[in-house]
Amino acid sequence: TSGALLDTHGRSHKDLRISLTDRCSLRCTYCMPEQGNEWLARESILSVDEIVRVARIAAEAGITTFRLTGGEPLLRRDIVDIVRRLREIDTEDGPVQVAMTTNGIRLDEVLDDLISAGLSRLNISIDTLRPDRFAALTRRDRLDDVLRGIAAASASGLRPLKLNTVAMRGVNDDELCDLVEFATARGAELRFIEQMPLDSGHTWDRDRMVTREEILDTLSERWTLTEIPGRGGAPAERWHLDGGAATVGVIASVTAPFCGACDRLRLTADGQLRNCLFSTDEFDLLPVLRATGDPGSDAAVDDVLRRCVWAKLPGHAINDPAFLQPARGMNAIGG
Ligand code: GTP
Ligand code: 5AD
Ligand code: SF4
Repeated sequence: TSGALLDTHGRSHKDLRISLTDRCSLRCTYCMPEQGNEWLARESILSVDEIVRVARIAAEAGITTFRLTGGEPLLRRDIVDIVRRLREIDTEDGPVQVAMTTNGIRLDEVLDDLISAGLSRLNISIDTLRPDRFAALTRRDRLDDVLRGIAAASASGLRPLKLNTVAMRGVNDDELCDLVEFATARGAELRFIEQMPLDSGHTWDRDRMVTREEILDTLSERWTLTEIPGRGGAPAERWHLDGGAATVGVIASVTAPFCGACDRLRLTADGQLRNCLFSTDEFDLLPVLRATGDPGSDAAVDDVLRRCVWAKLPGHAINDPAFLQPARGMNAIGG
């Protein structure tokens, strides 16, 4: 029960993605049904103390980066506190990194406090720059709020700043170059994401997915792309645009999966550990966190972390005809 979080395929785990809530201020069609989902019960949601405790034990086992996700992490009233307390965790190699993935709504109001609390990096989702499309895709007319969030992030100087776009046929595939220009003008990197079968409505359709290859074809008509080597365990492949400082990324989870280098673990808002976005099994930490005595010890938490990692499969099976989508949607798994 010590040393790195190694799985049976030799992968060492460094990155813990922590979902803070399954709720969201938007209703993106590729994520949630219009009416939302049946939300997690309040009493099952991890408290700040519980999150920080899991994080500390994970850091002792070699996790160096925490990424806060949701649902929408900024819906947590205690978000600044969470960032501050996670950043206080020290490892042998120095302080941990605390990154966040957000839809940008309300970010302008809390960003200064988040940065003071020690936030390391931000990724913001934006799928379209057109208000009508934004309203149709997210079922909320809030593009202006998102743009204010992005403007605040850009002005804050917090870098690297990344913008995420899920590319969708007939929805935003004519805006790809506009989105790249929008990002680079704000000191950000645009990353296009292949749509994955993770929506709670089970509406994923392979034919509607815009592939890595199509994205690169479109970008290549405008720019000369030079690949940036040294990707490590990162999901995005990255390129320089016209040999300049500006960059673009593609996250090709479906047509070019990066599972072989995966160094991620996930913790859901209700205390379930997952070794993969697509795993069908979860490891329940909640009873351990709420037990007293030996069954609730740090060693017991560490044990669940190790069992979860040890059970990890070599990769997802999206491209397998027998693929089964996980029971939870993206909003509850945490991206
Ligand atoms: P960086 O560390 O900044 O590169 O962040 P990230 O890309 O890991 O995180 P982000 O939350 O911005 O996620 C971007 C996209 O990558 C989302 O669609 C995620 O679902 C997807 N993603 C993140 N981690 C994984 C993973 O381990 N496997 C797969 N298949 N997709 C992932
Ligand atoms: N496929 C790909 N990306 C998705 N995201 C949410 N659902 C999906 C999906 N089904 C993206 C969000 C956000 C990031 C965390 O994951 O748009 O940018
Ligand atoms: Fe890791 Fe699973 Fe994503 Fe593959 S699909 S990179 S194993 S989380």
